[in-house]
Amino acid sequence: MSSTKTPSSTLSPPVLKSLKLNSSGLGQATPKPLSPKLSFSLGETITKPSLKPAVWSPSTTPLVLVKRESETHDSMSFTFAAADQALFDFKPGQFVTLAVKIENKTHYRAYSISSAPQQKLLRLTIKRVPDGLVSNWLADNLSIGDSLSALNIAGQFNSSDCKHKSKLLLISAGCGITPVMSIAKTLLAHNSDADIEFLHCARDKDNVIFHDEMQTLLTQYSNFKVQLLLENSDGFASFSANDNTNEKTNSRALSHQTGMVTADVIQQLYPDLNQRTIFLCGPVGFMKAVENIAQESDFDMANFFQESFTPAADNKQQDQISSGATETSVMLHVPDFAVEAEVIQGSLLLNALEKHGVPVIGACRAGVCGSCKCKVTKGSVTSTSTETLTEEDVEQGFVLACSSTLKDDVTVALS
Ligand code: FES
Repeated sequence: MSSTKTPSSTLSPPVLKSLKLNSSGLGQATPKPLSPKLSFSLGETITKPSLKPAVWSPSTTPLVLVKRESETHDSMSFTFAAADQALFDFKPGQFVTLAVKIENKTHYRAYSISSAPQQKLLRLTIKRVPDGLVSNWLADNLSIGDSLSALNIAGQFNSSDCKHKSKLLLISAGCGITPVMSIAKTLLAHNSDADIEFLHCARDKDNVIFHDEMQTLLTQYSNFKVQLLLENSDGFASFSANDNTNEKTNSRALSHQTGMVTADVIQQLYPDLNQRTIFLCGPVGFMKAVENIAQESDFDMANFFQESFTPAADNKQQDQISSGATETSVMLHVPDFAVEAEVIQGSLLLNALEKHGVPVIGACRAGVCGSCKCKVTKGSVTSTSTETLTEEDVEQGFVLACSSTLKDDVTVALS
């Protein structure tokens, strides 16, 4: 992937407009009228403005929620407009870092964008996760008309920077479908020669995000095919009765199989695999399985792009990192914030910094957004991701705090 500018942990926290609290659950928000000055169309149609449109600036303009809709029992799409009605300019596959104030503390989280660029609406699709503080708070509390701030839009996993062929295989699992859907919609709208195969994996029919939207795209684009791979497909026929009852005769209908992703499944579905570029997003374990299959199939990994946004609470990689913790103590020094603290050797640097009040931003907590970049000026850490860092950064001692554990006494600076 080519490099993109990553957010800096030294950015000034944006002003967060107060968010109205309510007690509604997922998909049960009580709509409230928009301010008379704010009027947005929820249509999907992209209109070409006659004048050069203003582009949304996260640093100056808050997002206003204009729609919220349930996708599955535990995932929800939030559609925002810019308060000044500017266009959202980003690369398909990128994420936006939101600043969400909960009980007087601002939390930063990165969420992949599921809409296409150059529209006046920005859609984020968010899944509830156990102990997922911000995701769950948004699902429970964010109401129509509420506004919140964002830091930036960024991300190297995108179909603009990642050089790809016209034949693509998009693979996702669970909420990993979010950036991949943005890529699919954009390529279909602008690349008539694109040949797009989409393989989405889910536990069962109730966990398929964007089912109806994929069905709509199938009816619109003959160069788009979707295959659902469900661990349990009981009841799938009734689930998609409107579009799938004639599956054998209607090649434009959603197809599905039961099972897990395996080399046999991939080879059977995609005999031309080596002619395609793969974009992959999903949980860490799933992505590793697909990567292994590609490597075993002699796939040219220069055409393989992936990103995981497994939330921290679910992140097995981070669990493994943390499992290296011992009861030996080391010292954490952060001179700029007068921190001198004893922490357990093997602790995650991000957790240690947050625990001791250092205002580091951990937006993705998965080693992909770069927001937690900081500099180890003394001592050493063990890092599992340097994805957003340049070679020069690494030589100078910069690390990603969310992907680094403390080996010995360390001194850290945020810039
Ligand atoms: S929080 Fe995103 S890279 Fe560390």
